Amino acid sequence: MASDALLAFEQVSVTFGRHGRSRRPVTALDHVSFAVTPGRSLGIIGDSGAGKSTLCRTAIGLVEPGEGRVIVDGSDLSGAPASAWQRARRHVALVFQDALGSFNPMRPVLDGIAMPLLSYADLGGAALRRAVGEVMEQVGLQPSQMTRYPHEFSGGQIQRLAIARALTTRPRLLILDEPVSALDVSIRAQILNLLIDLSRDLALTCVVISSDPAVVHYLTEETLVLFAGRVVEAAPTAALFARPRHPYTVALLAQRDPGIALHEQGLSGARAQTRLAVEMSGCRFAGICPRELPRCRDEAPEPTPLGEGRMVRCHSLAAEALAGETRKG
Ligand SMILES: Nc1ncnc2c1ncn2[C@@H]1O[C@H](COP(=O)(O)OP(=O)(O)O)[C@@H](O)[C@H]1O
Ligand SMILES: [Mg+2]
Repeated sequence: MASDALLAFEQVSVTFGRHGRSRRPVTALDHVSFAVTPGRSLGIIGDSGAGKSTLCRTAIGLVEPGEGRVIVDGSDLSGAPASAWQRARRHVALVFQDALGSFNPMRPVLDGIAMPLLSYADLGGAALRRAVGEVMEQVGLQPSQMTRYPHEFSGGQIQRLAIARALTTRPRLLILDEPVSALDVSIRAQILNLLIDLSRDLALTCVVISSDPAVVHYLTEETLVLFAGRVVEAAPTAALFARPRHPYTVALLAQRDPGIALHEQGLSGARAQTRLAVEMSGCRFAGICPRELPRCRDEAPEPTPLGEGRMVRCHSLAAEALAGETRKG
């Protein structure tokens, strides 16, 4: 695993106890590994329920993994006390999925933006306002608006405010959980372009979570595909979108192409399956997969390297890769 990683997960598993009607535990993350290195933003795609938000919360210490290691800036923080996580959150900031809900409706946005800063610095009065004004300018808002209340801002502006708050501690890594999914299509591009500008101007690396693959395609250098708590494919973003390999990734990306009706079916099946699949012992995509082999139902596929920094978990693709190597000699 890269030693200069800003954030790394090593075999991280998270299980929530006695969930839902079945009262059985849900494995929201199952042995998830990845590393984010400076300048190579990471996208995470997958349907609702795949474990994306759980991954975000685990990355900043709000959820404690049952197994594995979470490494922030080279320090293993698994099981670390709250104070260690508090220090780490200065460098790794999360913009939550519900931006509006993360601001107190009864307080001016100044208070909400300043919150992370107050845990590190004993700032007050003019210095605090200066710091808040600075991050508001960075996200394209007028500092004079800091005394307004959340309801006085549009959806796009609220998202900008949430990003401003994350920037107050000058993090090196910004995790964005569904940064544009609540926004009108016309506003989305503005926020995506803001994120591109911020990454460049502030030397920020991002982890971008989205159920819309196009967002990840636009913003990131590396992509993970999460299905029912497992990483089924990992690859450089350009390569993954040019040629998705895992049958689930193929279905997920094909939803933008109305010509591929067969894949659409696969995808709706995948969505229905996500909730059940966490209890399956074999490949979680078994039963709806067009490439299924007999062993897929009982045996979880291990990661298979495909070259050029790509990895896939699929018995069928592993067999194909092996056959290719055998042919080569
Ligand atoms: N606090 C929690 N308690 C119990 N189950 C949870 C909790 N948070 C998430 N889950 C379950 O974990 C799975 C993954 O959820 P989540 O991480 O929110 O997925 P995503 O963000 O990809 O939609 C789901 O089955 C969800 O119901
Ligand atoms: Mg989520």
